[in-house]
Amino acid sequence: MRLTRTIVIALALVALLVLPVSPALAQDNPTPAPPAATEILPPTPLNGQGSFAQNCAPCHGATGQGDGPSASGLSVPPTALGDRATMANRSPQDWFSITKNGNMARMMPPWGGRLSDQEIWDTVAYAWSLGATQDEVDQGRAVYEVNCASCHGADGKPAQPGVPDLTDFAATSAASNAAWDQVVSQGKGAMPGFGGKLSEAEQRAAVTYARTLSLAGPLFRAPLTGGTGVISGTISNATTGQPAPNLSVELGIFDQASQLETRTTTTDAQGRYEFAALPTDSTLAFAVRTTYPENVPYSSDFVSFEEGETTINLPVLVYETTDDPSGVRAERVHYIMEFDAGRALVAELVLLSLDGDRAFVGDGNHVLRFPLPPGVQSLNVNDEEMGGRFVQTETGFVDRLPLTPGQNTRQIVLRYALPFDGTNLDFERSLPYPASNVNALISDLGRRTLKRTNPCASA
Ligand code: HEC
Ligand code: HEC
Repeated sequence: MRLTRTIVIALALVALLVLPVSPALAQDNPTPAPPAATEILPPTPLNGQGSFAQNCAPCHGATGQGDGPSASGLSVPPTALGDRATMANRSPQDWFSITKNGNMARMMPPWGGRLSDQEIWDTVAYAWSLGATQDEVDQGRAVYEVNCASCHGADGKPAQPGVPDLTDFAATSAASNAAWDQVVSQGKGAMPGFGGKLSEAEQRAAVTYARTLSLAGPLFRAPLTGGTGVISGTISNATTGQPAPNLSVELGIFDQASQLETRTTTTDAQGRYEFAALPTDSTLAFAVRTTYPENVPYSSDFVSFEEGETTINLPVLVYETTDDPSGVRAERVHYIMEFDAGRALVAELVLLSLDGDRAFVGDGNHVLRFPLPPGVQSLNVNDEEMGGRFVQTETGFVDRLPLTPGQNTRQIVLRYALPFDGTNLDFERSLPYPASNVNALISDLGRRTLKRTNPCASA
């Protein structure tokens, strides 16, 4: 799977349309949740990791301790989903239905309008995993093999008549941990109790392991070393047409939420690099990075191993540099303007291309310049803090990252507000680069009149 640039652009456009200047908490969902005639889908916990990080961690905390950055602003504390004892009486189906339908009276937003049922199940399963550990799963497997497999089967498929199927998620997801702890401790029907034979920790571990038997994927990620995956490629200098030997290459390994690990190597005399023994888990993504000649960064697309795939060829191009800006072109410029109490909210998307076969490095410190209209408030550029890559100046801001040759190699998304008295706004924009495609979307102002000069791009 490749995350191509087109997708990134499409996503950015969607984000432009839906993101307000000051991101509000995703709380007010006007869509009523549909009635709960819900299919029960065996989840893949690791597929829910990204969704949990994005949608749930702000309140429930990254490890489910109820301590996310937004938690302190709520009148009801978010539940510690990662605390097994707190959650003992809830079943996965309870979690699913609370997550889907929400409980707005108690500050828990509904997700049914934003996530599919499968996404909700995966997210809930990931949240569930926060109450367990890999050690507990391993201990539980050992206990299960000795004490439970004779009746329940090694993989959870009943080995005897009258024994419930532990691989049937529709059935297992209806039971809370407390209910299962009770069955294991006290016994039920033809099942003996293990209260006198196993420690409480062993019983709990057996229950945790039994849970994994009805999931579509593992509760935790396998170790990142010792896999069979290989990512290799050639780094070539596209200005000279020669391979780039002796370059330091870094491989980043990412899950859906963050970077897990980096590995480094150096290209050989033919410009080749190779990273072996990689995990081929399809929920992981990889990208290689290098710098050339000294500090101009280059990186590949993100790639993942497809099912059954163990090798990926990932070439990277690097370039000599130039300080001549004449090849810089604005491929597309979008302006979107909305109005809100006393302010005009502006979002801009600028896609830049660079002609020629050298990376544009500007004066070494300032690479691309973007003027801004006077009076700009709440400036946000690519969601990055100002003062690093982006630096605000008297007349606008600069991007200090060198621009690499090719189409749409730079994407700038900026949002800001302008004071607006409700009657008159002169909105005049210019760009120091020729633009081939400019469009502006201005929200309807009803009876008000808006005097605007056409957004223009100086060539
Ligand atoms: C705006 C903050 C917020 C966000 C975002 C949020 N929650 Fe909650 N959630 C809460 C609060 C507050 C409660 C406690 C409600 C209560 O005590 O009745 C809660 C309760 C829950 C419960 C019920 C726990 C129980 O049994 O009492 C579940 C399950 C849950 N959230 C899952 C999720 C999932 C999954 C997500 C992400 C898809 C999510 N929440 C996102 C605030 C949030
Ligand atoms: C002698 C056979 C036998 C052994 C050994 C056994 N079980 Fe069971 N188990 C059963 C039977 C039969 C049931 C169904 C009880 C009933 O509902 O009447 C059951 C029910 C369960 C349930 C409840 C399933 C549900 O649908 O609610 C769980 C969980 C469970 N067993 C886990 C375990 C674990 C963990 C062990 C090992 C520590 C274990 N069992 C050992 C026979 C066994």
